[in-house]
Amino acid sequence: MNIAIMCSGGDAAGMNPAIKSFVEHCLKNELVPYLIYDGFEGLIDGNIKKAFHEDVTGIMHLGGTIIRTSRSKRFYEPKYREIAYENLKEAEIDKIIILAGDGSIKGLDVFAQEYNISFVGIPTTIDNDIYGTNYCLGVDTSLNVIRNALDEIRDTSSSSKRAFVVEIMGRECGYLALITALTSGAEICVIPEIEVDLDSIEKRLSLELEHGRQYILAIVAEGTNQTEYIKNWIEETLNIETRTLVLGHVQRGGNPTVFDRLMGTEFVSFSIERLISQEEVKSVIIYKNSQFEFVDINTVTSNKYTIDEKLLKLVEKLTK
Ligand code: F6P
Repeated sequence: MNIAIMCSGGDAAGMNPAIKSFVEHCLKNELVPYLIYDGFEGLIDGNIKKAFHEDVTGIMHLGGTIIRTSRSKRFYEPKYREIAYENLKEAEIDKIIILAGDGSIKGLDVFAQEYNISFVGIPTTIDNDIYGTNYCLGVDTSLNVIRNALDEIRDTSSSSKRAFVVEIMGRECGYLALITALTSGAEICVIPEIEVDLDSIEKRLSLELEHGRQYILAIVAEGTNQTEYIKNWIEETLNIETRTLVLGHVQRGGNPTVFDRLMGTEFVSFSIERLISQEEVKSVIIYKNSQFEFVDINTVTSNKYTIDEKLLKLVEKLTK
């Protein structure tokens, strides 16, 4: 039986451990593993290769993805999906695991409806914004990369009585910024999910500065588009020299943490078992309350992810 794995959308740490586990699990169980390179772009271009142990040796600790990924515009067009299908047919593949965000998994679902392909989507994005799952592959590594950067920013910030406004990725979702603010000891957190009360922040921090506070760390989620505004506000209102740091794509790099390695492995082995034990599979595997579950792709794409209320409550103190 032939099975393929591919990535789509933004890369995330944990993809390589998942790919390695995929190939090894298949070979151990007399399944034939295929790697689809370059995401949907590669599927269209026929960049599909049978995998062997040597393709995945020495990759467990690597960030990114050795099979690369893409954000394909061509895959939206039926004529390219037909070409993609012909490529799969030639390789005799009708089961696919995709490591991707919900947009890409939905793209595969459209394709799977048209051409009777089975698939499992593994939620993979540093944004951690996929409905139904508490955790998306890659988020743990990203948070640890951010933690290191923030610890370093604190060193310089505290050495020269400055404020730093650090912009954190996450698209429309404030999850990465929220966890970062809570775990870096920040003074301010600005995320799309909570309205900030600047008057209240002014009172709180003015008093602290009067009492000897030497620096300020503000975490701003990219989805708020407030980075420059908060920088100017701090400088003008709190009268402290302020610098901005847009952390950017380093948040997607770094070698996968133990947790992401283990989760990549578990996600993949459950997904393979599902694909070989059931006739037709069009699902997403989720991790909820420490359990793995399979849910229908439509449930995932027709609902919006919201951050756990308990976390929102915890971070409230940094928003006012
Ligand atoms: O979805 C992951 C992510 O890193 C977002 O946090 C960010 O907004 C986006 O991708 C950046 O996309 P690109 O790498 O295409 O610039």
